[in-house]
Amino acid sequence: MPNDRLGRPLRDLRISITDRCNFRCVYCMPKEVFGRDYQFLPRADLLTFEEIERLARAFVANGVEKIRITGGEPLVRRDVESLIARLAEIDALDLTLTTNGALLAAKAEALRKAGLRRVTVSLDSLDDDAFRAMNDVDFPVQRVLDGIDAAAGAGLPVKVNVVLKRGVNDDGILDLARYFRGTGHVLRFIEYMDVGHTNGWRMDDVVPAAEVVSTIDARFPLEPVEPAYRGEVARRWRYVDGAGEIGVIASVTQPFCGDCTRARLSAEGKLYTCLFAVRGHDLRAVVRDGASDDELESAIGAVWSRRTDRYSELRTDATAALPKIEMSYIGG
Ligand SMILES: C[S@@+](CC[C@H](N)C(=O)[O-])C[C@H]1O[C@@H](n2cnc3c(N)ncnc32)[C@H](O)[C@@H]1O
Ligand code: SF4
Repeated sequence: MPNDRLGRPLRDLRISITDRCNFRCVYCMPKEVFGRDYQFLPRADLLTFEEIERLARAFVANGVEKIRITGGEPLVRRDVESLIARLAEIDALDLTLTTNGALLAAKAEALRKAGLRRVTVSLDSLDDDAFRAMNDVDFPVQRVLDGIDAAAGAGLPVKVNVVLKRGVNDDGILDLARYFRGTGHVLRFIEYMDVGHTNGWRMDDVVPAAEVVSTIDARFPLEPVEPAYRGEVARRWRYVDGAGEIGVIASVTQPFCGDCTRARLSAEGKLYTCLFAVRGHDLRAVVRDGASDDELESAIGAVWSRRTDRYSELRTDATAALPKIEMSYIGG
């Protein structure tokens, strides 16, 4: 099992299965840029489910223990359940998926039956107007809440991801905390990141994780929880009164590159060793050129063993302006 040049093992893989989405979140796929004319990947360029399964197995052979299916919006890819069923066959794999929740009420049961272990739902506000403005396709918040209930009803543990943008939804922190306290669903606040170049990111838009913790703690007292494993990106806190846990992901204000064990595979089969990488390694070409399983595993190991990325620790105003790939392409 290869370590990278900074001694980090390969443990997590995020697989984007489409670059398309039914939302146009302002911090991810702003409508002005990703409107109708945006060039999404042609179908033939996407990895097939067979190719994804082969690659997933080759990553597991290199040490991956956890796979997260993402996108774009993964539930818009046709027959996603059959991909989950294929991946669920891989021994001892922690298999999860991140979704905007729009199609979750309809799909939760099938996903669970296919072998999905857990689900993360992105939900940035409980306020219907603010939520519609953030997804920018006028999608009502209640349907995402119904999706969360359907997932829980199907037996899937749920995490809820919130991205805060200063002045847009940062007044809703306590409402979210209040709503999810005691439900067993873990609420996680993610700092708004300078991924891609279309969202016009500015440091002033970021709501620091420390501010989220102090806001919640002042109303519902919190205490820290020890990390469950190396590379856990969320810092965990629990309610002192036993009403559950929250997490904060301080990727901007407290970067965690030193423990980053994550690789990302784009929908067209490019391997990225950092969320902020500019260039990916074309694994689809390796697969379609007829590589054996051993050759595929070695190709992945070779990329990982050369890895030196630690973008977030080096971030400055100058690096934030460099060209980068979009979140909707790489999947977060
Ligand atoms: C790119 S989305 C893909 C999966 C799915 N469409 C969803 O929204 O959950 C994955 C995660 O990235 C988050 N995200 C997107 N753009 C972001 C940004 N600029 N900074 C921080 N998180 C971001 C989303 O909120 C979501 O939780
Ligand atoms: S965050 Fe998810 S739901 Fe929102 S535009 Fe990006 S991919 Fe779509």
